[in-house]
Amino acid sequence: MDIRAIDWNEAWKRQQSGVFDDGWNRAYWDKRAPHFAMSREGGPYVERFIELVNPEPQWRVLDVGCGSGTLAVPLASRVREITALDISSVMLDSLRVRCEQHEIDNVATVRASWTDDWQSLALEPHDVVIASRSLVVSDLRQAIEKLNRFALRRVCISTPAGEGPLDPAMFRAIGRRRRFGADYIYVYNLLYQMGLQANLHFITYRENKSYRDKDSVFTALRCRIGELLPQEEKILREYIDSAFSCRDGRWRRIVPRTVKWAVMWWDRL
Ligand SMILES: C[S@@+](CC[C@H](N)C(=O)[O-])C[C@H]1O[C@@H](n2cnc3c(N)ncnc32)[C@H](O)[C@@H]1O
Repeated sequence: MDIRAIDWNEAWKRQQSGVFDDGWNRAYWDKRAPHFAMSREGGPYVERFIELVNPEPQWRVLDVGCGSGTLAVPLASRVREITALDISSVMLDSLRVRCEQHEIDNVATVRASWTDDWQSLALEPHDVVIASRSLVVSDLRQAIEKLNRFALRRVCISTPAGEGPLDPAMFRAIGRRRRFGADYIYVYNLLYQMGLQANLHFITYRENKSYRDKDSVFTALRCRIGELLPQEEKILREYIDSAFSCRDGRWRRIVPRTVKWAVMWWDRL
C-alpha cells in the first residue's frame, strides 16, 4: 500500500468529526478557563516548547489558541511582542490578569476562532506563529495553510502523541465512550503531503497535579467531561476514591499519568 495515496486531511476530519463545533467549543473552554491558569504554570512542557521555538528577541509571536497564556506569559520577556488569539473570552480575561500581575505590557489579545477571517481582524503576519495543544479544528490543512500565511520565519505546533491529556480510565469509569481524536501522526503525514518536512520532538512528562481537597479533584475532572447526570457524578466520585489519595495534605493520583506531546516545527523558506 502506498501511504502517499491516503488523504490525511480527510482521515483527520473523520477522526475528529463532531468534536469541533465552535459554539460547543467556546462554552467548553470558557468553563475550563478558571482552572486552567493554575494547572498550566511552568513545568517541563513549557520550558521545552520555548526552547524549540527558540525565538530571537526582536521577533513578534502570534500565539493561536493561547489559553490563559501558558506560553505567552513566559515568552513575553524573550520577544518584542506577542499577539495572543483564542476563541474563549474567559481564557483571554485570565491572560490579561496574569499579564498585569507579571507587569507584562507587550501582549495584545484577540478574540477569534481558527475559522474566522484573520485578515479582516487586521491580523498581520508575525515572525513566528505557534499553536500549542490548540489544533482544535476540523479542517487541518486549512489551519496549517493559515499558520503558514501568517508566519514570516517559523511555525511551531504541538498535538498529543497517543491518548493525550484526557484520562481514558475516567471516561470508561463513568460509562462514556469517548473517541480519542487523531494524534500527531495524522498531522505529521499531512505536513509531509503539503511539502513541509517538519522537525519532530516529543515532550513526555508524568502528570502529577495536586489538589487541595477531593472536591477540587472532582471539579477539575468534571470540567474536562462537561455536564454529568447525577448517577455519573456518583460514579466519578467513586473513581476519584479509587484513583486518588491524600499525601502530605494534597490530593494526587496514586499512579501519575504519562502524557506525551509531539512538537512539530518548520522554517518558512
Ligand atoms: C488545551 S488549550 C491550550 C492552551 C495553551 N496554548 C497551552 O498550550 O496550554 C486549547 C486552547 O485552544 C482554544 N481554542 C479552542 N477552539 C478554538 C478555536 N476554534 N479557535 C481558537 N482557539 C480555540 C481554547 O479556548 C483553549 O484556550
